[in-house]
Amino acid sequence: MPVTVGVLGATGAVGQRLVQLLAPHPDFEIACVTASDDSAGHAYREAAKWRIETPIPEAIADLTVRETDPEAIPEDVPLLFSALPSAVGERVEPALCAAGYVVSSNASNARMAEDTPLVIPEVNPDHLDLLEVQRDERGWDGALVKNPNCSTITMVPTLSALSDFGLETVRVATMQAVSGAGYAGVTSMEIIDNVLPHIGGEEEKMESEPKKLLGEFDGAEIDPLDVDLAASCNRVATLDGHLESVWADTREAITAADARAAMRDAPSLALHSSPSQFIEVFEEPGRPQPRLDRLVGNGMSVAAGGVRETDMGVQYDCLAHNTLRGAAGASVLNGELLVEKGWV
Ligand SMILES: NC(=O)c1ccc[n+]([C@@H]2O[C@H](COP(=O)([O-])OP(=O)(O)OC[C@H]3O[C@@H](n4cnc5c(N)ncnc54)[C@H](OP(=O)(O)O)[C@@H]3O)[C@@H](O)[C@H]2O)c1
Repeated sequence: MPVTVGVLGATGAVGQRLVQLLAPHPDFEIACVTASDDSAGHAYREAAKWRIETPIPEAIADLTVRETDPEAIPEDVPLLFSALPSAVGERVEPALCAAGYVVSSNASNARMAEDTPLVIPEVNPDHLDLLEVQRDERGWDGALVKNPNCSTITMVPTLSALSDFGLETVRVATMQAVSGAGYAGVTSMEIIDNVLPHIGGEEEKMESEPKKLLGEFDGAEIDPLDVDLAASCNRVATLDGHLESVWADTREAITAADARAAMRDAPSLALHSSPSQFIEVFEEPGRPQPRLDRLVGNGMSVAAGGVRETDMGVQYDCLAHNTLRGAAGASVLNGELLVEKGWV
């Protein structure tokens, strides 16, 4: 029997991707969709202004959008996927967890909370057990799991692959697509013929979340990875797919061939949404590129290339589809892991 699920913030850029991924999913069945009070009470097909390249799923189109409120969500929906703005998530998600729902969330609130697992299933699935601590401390019957920021998800799989060499210093410059700002994000007048060299709060997220993701969980708490990490984040005029230039210096000397092999060998999982190849490594120069490569592994792989040795360690480019692997797909994968591990 599929698990009945809800989508919070279902009308937005990430919410629509969640609906696209969950509607045909064999293990989940969407029972409710929520959004702001402006959308509540309307049919999903009217409220969502569907902007995805595949047709709106007919079974969901006629659902009435509900308010984003624990009272409005049916009790027999154990798992909720959240694509809410972080200020709304901060208010609503703990109330939902206290009411017994398990929430797999994209929103940035609570990502760095000590008792909240921040998970990329292929990188740190063991951190999910932090939920025992969370339930003890908060007295929740439900649970809150976060996936990282979209630019963090693009880079961390490659760093995880290199971590056996002892990461010491990481520098990264991002080129992030406009869909990362949501539908009401940057205007065409701001972004066409332009690069915006500032994305509020993004550099801080990229400099903190990887340390938690790559940290050690000892059964009680996460000891973050001690790595010198600095980021520069930029919005560019691509639609989907964040491209990032990374310099990673390691304690143990590493050749470009070592780095390529470590990335290529990073294992995928057997979850429904897992790509067959977790990190797709390109040998040819000039790849990966957003337009050509954002859909590798159905948008769930990370692509890497241009690997070379420099005075600042190994340097390479990596790319992931920001609303698939970087957001909705990441939440769905976490949902699949929650079910596999018996948390739902
Ligand atoms: N876009 C990305 O690539 C990406 C990647 C990683 C993480 N995220 C995170 O995912 C979340 C959603 O981002 P997005 O890009 O999908 O944003 P978005 O396009 O602006 O969508 C926001 C969603 O939240 C709903 N909402 C807004 N205010 C609300 C309120 N007061 N109460 C209840 N619902 C409310 C909106 O409903 P209405 O349509 O009714 O306004 C809409 O469904 C954010 O926390 C973002 O930081 C986004």
